[in-house]
Amino acid sequence: MSGKLNIAVFASGRGSNFKAILEAIKTGKIQNAQIVLVVSNNSDAGAFDIACENNIPELHINRKQFGTDEDFNSTLMSSLEKHRVNFIALAGYMKKIDPTIVRAFKNCIVNIHPALLPKFGGGGMYGMHVHEAVIASKDKISGASVHLVDEEYDHGPVVLQETVPVEANDTPFTLSERVLKVEHKIYPEAIRLFSEGKIKVDGRKVIIINDES
Ligand code: GRF
Repeated sequence: MSGKLNIAVFASGRGSNFKAILEAIKTGKIQNAQIVLVVSNNSDAGAFDIACENNIPELHINRKQFGTDEDFNSTLMSSLEKHRVNFIALAGYMKKIDPTIVRAFKNCIVNIHPALLPKFGGGGMYGMHVHEAVIASKDKISGASVHLVDEEYDHGPVVLQETVPVEANDTPFTLSERVLKVEHKIYPEAIRLFSEGKIKVDGRKVIIINDES
């Protein structure tokens, strides 16, 4: 993609990844991007408080407000178009993105997942369930993954990953805190790479070109 990234952040919860991306934009680490809309299915999302403090437009939308999938998706699409969104960052968004939207934003939707995909991803692998599964597996390494979104949960190609150790006395909560720190690092970093046109996607292969920063 060329030109500025106009990002819609989709978040159902507290929004700490949204905040990390926003900080990276505000401090100039990401220069060629702005967050133009925050979308949530949850009117109480902490992400809306962050949006409000920063004068970023908000859209509260969920399927229950509509009679059909088509109405829901076309209303969401209209709002994305109205705000000139050309890139979507899912940050703790608990709903599946409809294939019509995945296709309209091909290779322009990313997600952050709190484990090393393709392990510990897919249906049911969200929140503490992920960290519980990692600890139960006895793996010694976990981490975070930024990946492109396709039509299956946690399935699109990985853009960036970083590992953290799993300590012998970890609980799902202590592990989640260690992973979250890494999420806040690699998610803004991935968005910076997209904003600088340094990510090329070839089928399921992601190529990072010529990054010296
Ligand atoms: C993060 O752990 C992220 O990996 C997962 O949902 C959580 C969202 O946290 N997809 P926050 O709302 O960004 O604080």
